[in-house]
Amino acid sequence: MAAHPTTSFPVMTQHIAFDAIARARLPALLRAMPKAELHLHIEGSLEPELIFKLAKRNGVTLVYPSVEALRAAYAFTDLQSFLDIYYAGASVLLHEQDFFDLAWAYFERAAADNIVHAEIFFDPQTHTARGVPIEAVIQGLSHACRRAHAELGISAKLILCFLRHLSEDDALATLDAALPHRHHFIGVGLDSGERGNPPEKFARVFAKARAAGLHVVAHAGEEGPPEYIRAALDVLGAERIDHGVRCTEDPDLVARLARERTPLTVCPLSNVKLCVFAALADHNLPALLDAGLCATVNSDDPAYFGGYLNQNFVETFAALPRLTARDAYTLARNSFEASFAPESDKARWIAALDHAFAHA
Ligand code: ADE
Ligand code: ZN
Repeated sequence: MAAHPTTSFPVMTQHIAFDAIARARLPALLRAMPKAELHLHIEGSLEPELIFKLAKRNGVTLVYPSVEALRAAYAFTDLQSFLDIYYAGASVLLHEQDFFDLAWAYFERAAADNIVHAEIFFDPQTHTARGVPIEAVIQGLSHACRRAHAELGISAKLILCFLRHLSEDDALATLDAALPHRHHFIGVGLDSGERGNPPEKFARVFAKARAAGLHVVAHAGEEGPPEYIRAALDVLGAERIDHGVRCTEDPDLVARLARERTPLTVCPLSNVKLCVFAALADHNLPALLDAGLCATVNSDDPAYFGGYLNQNFVETFAALPRLTARDAYTLARNSFEASFAPESDKARWIAALDHAFAHA
């Protein structure tokens, strides 16, 4: 059912002497290589400093007295313990300018990380529930995307996520409110508390989104079981799975994901912060790559999880010495192949990636 990333690009990897790339050069190469980010919640890039700035600008009272006190509260035990503080942080976002400022701050960091393409999640229900017009959310983010392209050379697209702890009727009302602005976003996703909120709950709203020509992604297999990954594929028509790391509990599912080349947007620092894995050294990214899965590395909610995309790459490779220069190339290449960008853009970015590795 799902559309799968093409494998038709000219393959240049045989000309790259991966084995000649010294391990000591890997961190610099990981930072310098062009890459796409496919799993980034824009509200999760809201840094404490900007929370305090926007709170002051908008007259919002915060329960934390200082940036340091807020940052000190970022000690999570699971997904829900994070979501509670994440939704509270987003309460300072009220006006179109706030959404622009939020996204622009992310794009400046993304440019520094050599991200050339970003597909960015936003959670309209987090804001409309507080009385913020959906237009303010979409227009502010979209303006920042256009400016990122014009001034930073970053291709930036938006994906509207439904909050799975809310009802499907709420999601349907959100989709109806967003569809007049359809040209500002390329797809829909599903996020928030996974346990007890299976994909089936959202079958109708995803059918409607697909009928509107929108791409479909869904968080599944982060805290939820492998069955949620299957349902995201079969019931929602997901083209990519966000996280998906629990797929390794089901070998048949792993075989299917490999066969169908369904991308997984893996977020290593997030997984450790939310106790999905005890430590980066325990992460199953090497196993996912060994199984031939189209895995990518992403930052999820970098303001909360200790680092943006390059930090995810560098720390993960440092913690898992089994990951090689060839794996770095594969992960970056997967990020382009798994994106919803035009084929011509993918080919151009992959050529730039080849160049970076050929001259490493
Ligand atoms: N919303 C923001 N980050 C999330 C995550 N890691 N999982 C589910 N929902 C989220
Ligand atoms: Zn996420």
